[in-house]
Amino acid sequence: MKSILENRPELARQVADVAEVAGYLWQKGWAERNGGNMTINITDAVDAEIRALPAISGRIPIGKELPHLKDRYFFCKGTNKRMRDLARWPMDNGAVIRICDDCVSYEIVADHPVKPTSELPAHLSMHNYLIGKGSSYKAAIHTHPIDLVAMTHHAPFLEKDVLTRLLWSMIPETRAFCPRGLGIVRYQLPSSIELADATIDQLEEYDVVMWEKHGVCAVGEDIMEAFDMIDTLSKSAQIYLTARSMGFVPEGMSDAQMEELKVAFNLPK
Ligand code: 13P
Ligand code: ZN
Repeated sequence: MKSILENRPELARQVADVAEVAGYLWQKGWAERNGGNMTINITDAVDAEIRALPAISGRIPIGKELPHLKDRYFFCKGTNKRMRDLARWPMDNGAVIRICDDCVSYEIVADHPVKPTSELPAHLSMHNYLIGKGSSYKAAIHTHPIDLVAMTHHAPFLEKDVLTRLLWSMIPETRAFCPRGLGIVRYQLPSSIELADATIDQLEEYDVVMWEKHGVCAVGEDIMEAFDMIDTLSKSAQIYLTARSMGFVPEGMSDAQMEELKVAFNLPK
């Protein structure tokens, strides 16, 4: 069977980036079994021939109305599919979907009828929010980093901006490359509409959102950028945990050092 990636270098490059990141997530130990998911908005890489493709599934309800997604296309990890398999065979473990005109359902158009991730309501809500506010962001990622998830099991870390300040102060790069910080969503059932809604509330202020006792979500221009923000935060968490395991509480950068960084890098917060 011919893949829709054939003779479409831009689409193939974007899917290859998702596959590359899927490999990183597995190597980092963040993607047990089918843990985590990614979606990218590929609408700009979709041509008239793809638009004319008949659906290979029926119409499947999203679970909520997303008015900005009408006729948009996404590549999504499949539900119950492993990241390590997505890394090797992206089109067997992911699917291209088209949002229907009603904005409440989607259909699968290629390559195989792989059902998208169970976190589709959260992913599509994030894309809908981003398009609605005129953002150029095209990628969303959800993964289960051990260090960051462990930190959400401690109530004081869940207070607004406590983790942001702590992780920013571990190493200058974290503040520079995750400049909007880390939002917190209190525990919600995985794949629920409540989780999706709580996540987009946090996106107003943050590009990365922790899901208490579950995982982390990030949005970015592309999948590499979204991954890099989580990776940078995880590096800070590792520095914190390493210091604690050596028997001391890390000092963290001073307020003056943080302020100097904010001015030097022209950071928003
Ligand atoms: P999926 O396999 O449906 O993508 O679910 C994985 C996950 O991490 C749910 O939160
Ligand atoms: Zn998850």
